[in-house]
Amino acid sequence: MSDTLSPQIRFGSNAGQPATRRDGIAKVTGVATFAADNNPEGLLYAVYAHAKIARGRVSHLDRAAAEAHPGVTHVITPQNRPELQGDPSAKPTMFSFRTEVLQDNTVRYAGQPIALVLGETLEAATEGARLLAPQYVADPARVGLDDNAATSFEPSGFGLPGGESHGDLEAGHAAAIRSIDVSYETAAQYHNAMETHAVVAQWDEDRLTLDIPSQALNLSCAAYGYFFGIPPQNVTVRSPYLGGGFGSKAIPTGPQVLAILAARMTQRPVKLMFTRQQMFGPAGHRGATRQRLRMGVDDTAALTVIDHDGLAETSTFDDFVEPAANASQGLYAASALRASHRLVRLDVGTPGPMRAPGEASGSAALECAMDEMAEAAGIDPLEFRLRNYAETQPGTGLPFSSKALRECYAQGAERFGWEGRPLAPLQMQDSDGLLTGWGMGAALFPCPMFAAEARATLRPDGTALFETSAVDMGQGAWTSLAQIAADSLGLTLDQVEFHAGHSSLPDGGVAGGSGHTATAGGALHAAGGDVVRQLGELATADPASPLYGAGNTSLVARDGWLLMEEDESRRERFADILARAGQTEMTGTGRAGRAPEDAMRHAMNSHGAVFAEVKVDPDLCQVRVTRLVGAFAAGRIINPRLTESQLMGGMIWGTSFALHEAARHDPRSGRIVNADFAGYHVPVNADVSGLEVITVHEDDPYVNALGIKGVGEIGVVGTVGAIGNAIWHATGKRVRHFPIRIADLLIALPPADPRGSGL
Ligand code: MOS
Repeated sequence: MSDTLSPQIRFGSNAGQPATRRDGIAKVTGVATFAADNNPEGLLYAVYAHAKIARGRVSHLDRAAAEAHPGVTHVITPQNRPELQGDPSAKPTMFSFRTEVLQDNTVRYAGQPIALVLGETLEAATEGARLLAPQYVADPARVGLDDNAATSFEPSGFGLPGGESHGDLEAGHAAAIRSIDVSYETAAQYHNAMETHAVVAQWDEDRLTLDIPSQALNLSCAAYGYFFGIPPQNVTVRSPYLGGGFGSKAIPTGPQVLAILAARMTQRPVKLMFTRQQMFGPAGHRGATRQRLRMGVDDTAALTVIDHDGLAETSTFDDFVEPAANASQGLYAASALRASHRLVRLDVGTPGPMRAPGEASGSAALECAMDEMAEAAGIDPLEFRLRNYAETQPGTGLPFSSKALRECYAQGAERFGWEGRPLAPLQMQDSDGLLTGWGMGAALFPCPMFAAEARATLRPDGTALFETSAVDMGQGAWTSLAQIAADSLGLTLDQVEFHAGHSSLPDGGVAGGSGHTATAGGALHAAGGDVVRQLGELATADPASPLYGAGNTSLVARDGWLLMEEDESRRERFADILARAGQTEMTGTGRAGRAPEDAMRHAMNSHGAVFAEVKVDPDLCQVRVTRLVGAFAAGRIINPRLTESQLMGGMIWGTSFALHEAARHDPRSGRIVNADFAGYHVPVNADVSGLEVITVHEDDPYVNALGIKGVGEIGVVGTVGAIGNAIWHATGKRVRHFPIRIADLLIALPPADPRGSGL
């Protein structure tokens, strides 16, 4: 087993089953409580006023008017803000940014908190905030990637594994008989979970209880403990349900810190909930990027070079890197590779991780560039990808822990009907005269793991309680993690009581990086395994047990029995083992994580291939995605129903990225002009049809003990390029920015409609 990361886990009858959501009924009947549903006695409502300019300072606030409004109890501004114990510029955890908590009157982005108003009712606090009528001294806003180029800099630590480049770039460029040099841009996007960020904060002396949606409960305890000068164990975070997170709820935000501060100041519980408009500011976003890709092929269409430069925005007061260029370094076997990143400082909130950070934006550019390269080489885009298939990790030569991308290509293409696709664009028109195009994109997402712990308690009635502070942000963790837990003790799903979403439980780690099922699931399975081990020790050492002397290496748990695998007649009930030992229950603990040395032995990624059909109206230039087929290989699938849902959600987000989503700034004020769901478009049912997900079987003995790779983010990744490429195939027009809108196609669409185009 020398190069195996961990022994392969035995699963029972639950893993692999399409169990329905265990929290489904609670959610549809309204019994599930989200953070802002909590209304403790004596509650005060907090509303923050936010800046309407992007750069400058607040010169006047009408505090008197706000304070005079009936029901308003307090107005907190930089002038009277109580002290915080921690430094808001510090980063107490791995998921922290400089927190904007009324340090001064400076405005650094539109949407930044500039005052907090407390009231006996939400209405009073809201009106109080409005009455502040802020006045500003404004400086010109810098909100576009070219607006502050002098500040651009290269952040450290965001290149390729093992260095900034692999192979001989000059030779790679020189060996190319055909090359492209193209730039793609992606727009800023804001997470906009259905449940906006919120907090209900209650203090009891130096103990703090928070109802707060969090993707990382124990890290939240550490961060809030730091800001308020109390130990993390004095902070209780309750986060049983989240209405979406997408990365933004991993990070403490300024308004939440201010509400907690207000609760301490007033010695009353305080509730704060962002409005929809306020989601476009202090809670992170996917920053805009501009990416230049230089690629070349030799006379066999083998890539000689992929040279990818990424420019991304960050704020003027903190650094976040959207590592888009790295996306081009794992998929294709080019002889020479380079990735570089630069950041430019803009008057925007600090960007943050947003579902498939790096890969979503990076692969949008890469997969379109691959399509352009295939076109230049005169071969089919799928054939081009197969010719450049990476058998080992490009650059490092590390073996993949597993990689069924070839099967993804084959199964996706087969289901879609890719064969026979005309190479040239503008070749397909349907009976309604709509231009039809087919495009594809490949996907890769890494498989990180975090550290997690769990506890399992076997009860005398044969049921078990499993506990970990895991997070269900809508992805289905309550269900898939319970399936893993049940299998660890050979139980049915309804014999398992599963507690999560509370920071007093063993640390379930971070729900992020698509690694939560593997991480928290690994800890849960290990906890169940610890119970089995202890039962085995009791039974095999006890002459009264049928398992006496059986040794503990071949014992398995099934249906309330501990039995010997080679001789199933030798078995004993859990209850009898416990009873004879005079125990009423038995508790086991488990941990999961990944040793750094294990991560060095293999490249670990999920893979996928997405095929898209679009239809474009030649007169109106309206684009419809009529079919999307995604085939993904992501290791062991615990729950195919939830997996399909995650992958569909990702592909819908990819559709959104390709066609809909963009935060647009007014360059004069620096404000986002479409900071609501009327102007910030996301797909609705009518925008999505013919969505098909294939999960390709993959056994991975190395990625982790459970063989799970994760499915939360990869669905976004290949989809964006597939749609962009399909639009080119339909129209002949390469639009090198996302989202692609009607106006981008109106200008240059050739009159292909036999009825005669009005263009
Ligand atoms: Mo995600 S962006 O790892 O929640």
